[in-house]
Formats: sequence, C-alpha cells, structure tokens
Amino acid sequence: MTTVAVVGATGRLGTQIVRVVESMDGFEIVARLNSQSDLSEMDRADLVIDVTRHDVSIAVVDRAVSNGQRVLVGTSGWSSAAIEAKSLPSTANVVFIPNFSVGSTVATHVSALVARYIPNARIDETHHVNKVDAPSGTSTHTAEAIAAARAATPNQPAKPGDHIVAGVPITSHRLPDAIAEQLVTFTGNGETVTIGHETTSRDSYDSGIAAAILFTATTAGVTVGLDRVLGIR
Ligand SMILES: NC(=O)c1ccc[n+]([C@@H]2O[C@H](COP(=O)([O-])OP(=O)(O)OC[C@H]3O[C@@H](n4cnc5c(N)ncnc54)[C@H](OP(=O)(O)O)[C@@H]3O)[C@@H](O)[C@H]2O)c1
Repeated sequence: MTTVAVVGATGRLGTQIVRVVESMDGFEIVARLNSQSDLSEMDRADLVIDVTRHDVSIAVVDRAVSNGQRVLVGTSGWSSAAIEAKSLPSTANVVFIPNFSVGSTVATHVSALVARYIPNARIDETHHVNKVDAPSGTSTHTAEAIAAARAATPNQPAKPGDHIVAGVPITSHRLPDAIAEQLVTFTGNGETVTIGHETTSRDSYDSGIAAAILFTATTAGVTVGLDRVLGIR
C-alpha cells in the first residue's frame, strides 16, 4: 500500500485528486492539508501530491525531497527555468505535470509533428474570463514545441494584440462560459491543417491524474510533463 498526502486537498483540483486516489487500488490517503495545516502533516506519507500555489509548492517540494518522499506537483508556475533553478538533488523523485489532460497533451504532440512539415502556425486559445494569465501555459508550451520541431523559418503574420511566443502568434480569447479550448492552425501552400482541443469538463483530468500517480509511485528522478508519463516523448 502506498500512503498519500494531498496538499491543497480542499481546492478544486485537490478535491478531484482525492476522488481519483480513493478510486485507485494500492493507494491510501493518510493526510489532507489545506491553508490551515502545518506542513509536517505530510511527513508520514510515501507520496506527496501538491496542488496549491507556487510559493507553497516550493516549500512542499523542498520538504518532501529532504524527507526522501516521492512528489507529484500539479501546481502551476513551475516553468523549465524554475525547475532548473531549483537544482534538485540526484536522489529526488519529483514529477511535475503542468497539464493533466491526456487529450491536450496528445494535441500538442501532434502539433509538433505537423510543424516539421508546415512551419507557418498560429494559436487561438479560449478560457474563462476569470483566468488571470494570458497566454495560457498550455498555448505557451505548444508554441515552444512547434518552434523546436520546425525545420524551416516561418512566415506567419501576427494579428494586432497577439502574444508572440517562440515566434508563434497566439490570440487569447476570454469568454464568460468557456472552460479551455485551443486551436492550432497551420497554413501550407494551398492547404490548412487545424489541431483543436476543447475541455468540456474537468473530469477530463481523471485519467491523466491516475497515470501520473502510478508513474510517481514507481519512477525515480525528475520528470516534467504528462507526455513523459504517457510514453509519448
Ligand atoms: N496541472 C493541471 O492540469 C492543473 C489544472 C488545474 C489547476 N492547476 C493548478 O493547480 C493549483 C491549484 O488549483 P485549484 O484550482 O485547485 O486552486 P484552489 O481551488 O484555490 O485550491 C488551492 C488549495 O491550496 C490550499 N492552500 C493554500 N495555501 C496553502 C498552504 N499554505 N498550505 C497548504 N495548502 C494551501 C488551499 O487551502 P484552503 O482551502 O484552506 O484555502 C486549497 O486547498 C493552481 O496552481 C492551478 O493553477 C493545475
């Protein structure tokens, strides 16, 4: 039996993670922490899942690594630069998952494949009006994957107000009834390829959460991204 502490267990994502862990054989939740908890409550678990805020997440990762615990981090803000700056020891077992959606992860992978052959790409991403950041972390990651994959220099015009990430124009739309949607459009010579992904329910995270928990319980070292967990990359 793998014992689990969920830090941020009362939040929107934390509540979902508690539900997923409770449905998994071989895992038992022994601690549920929120903003009123002392972080020492997580110390008795084999595996710590962090879904809080970035500043809290740094303290959780530090504590879990020094305790020798396995850690799964779903909290936003862990950019490649932030993970590198952390200089985690070689003994650390930490898995960072910026996006638990299997469909979104696969769509980004397919976008990188198309970019190898059709370099001109733009991204439209749509989220709820209350989303504080723009462009979304997922669209930034997709733009970086496209830029890394393409062999030819793009000639993609941007629209006024676009964000330019790794040379890819991104238009951010904010609508009252949206959850999360991304459309990547590649324009070739007389042809267009579109790769779309829409989240219609947060239940879409369930399978990615379960896969990431199983991976964290069994894999050594530092891992970043659901694509690594799923064996896509
Ligand atoms: N990886 C993904 O796919 C994905 C998807 C969605 C969201 N996220 C990210 O996951 C994080 C959580 O999102 P959310 O929507 O669940 O946020 P939320 O609803 O605001 O929940 C935040 C949780 O963190 C807890 N918390 C705050 N300060 C704490 C502290 N000092 N010690 C322990 N717990 C503390 C809160 O406890 P209280 O209830 O006491 O305030 C609450 O349980 C965010 O960074 C978000 O961007 C990632």
